Amino acid sequence: MLIEGEAKAGKDLEGNTDQAVEANSVTDKAMRRIRGLFASGVTVATTAHAGRLHGLTVSAFSAVSLDPPLVLVCVGNEATAQEIITASGIFAVNILSDEQEFLSERFAARAPIVNEKFEGVPYHIAATGAPILEESIAWYDCRLAATYASGDHVIFVGKVAAVGFGDESRRPLLYFANRYAGLEE
Ligand SMILES: Cc1cc2nc3c(=O)[nH]c(=O)nc-3n(C[C@H](O)[C@H](O)[C@H](O)COP(=O)(O)O)c2cc1C
Repeated sequence: MLIEGEAKAGKDLEGNTDQAVEANSVTDKAMRRIRGLFASGVTVATTAHAGRLHGLTVSAFSAVSLDPPLVLVCVGNEATAQEIITASGIFAVNILSDEQEFLSERFAARAPIVNEKFEGVPYHIAATGAPILEESIAWYDCRLAATYASGDHVIFVGKVAAVGFGDESRRPLLYFANRYAGLEE
């Protein structure tokens, strides 16, 4: 356990010492680092507006409520998706399998440049009009229920209009310490 001000000799994967992090406390760097230490699944939040499909990779997803059925995604102020979800009032959350790492990279705009994120990506359109990525483990199709501006992100709460299930024997794509991971057998 770390106690503020206590000297520690431990190093993380990037060679940062615990002490350095304590000294800087709540810096951007420390916030990014600690966010990465919460292992998560990986989703792609998709939407459609004015004939245009859009999506972005999102790990800041959470199921919120069963009754009514609500989920949320946090979308950064830099992301063009923020404006498009706000305008469309719909979004879907696609839960990625460990065979879809390339889609995570594509929708995070890290993969080799393609004209459109959806180019060559199989999808179908759900009830709200949001695109669903084929081969996802499962998906939520949502109508925007609430929007909360929160610092450098916006929290989009969606009321779930439909859910779908793919091959649930697929293993989830995980993200931890800035790396993809998978579940072991
Ligand atoms: C594993 C992973 C998780 C991510 N999670 C989020 C997230 O929760 N919220 C977010 O705004 N961006 C997240 N990003 C970054 C966005 O996917 C990225 O900035 C994207 O290019 C934004 O797309 P847009 O500007 O075309 O809308 C994540 C990226 C990766 C690789």
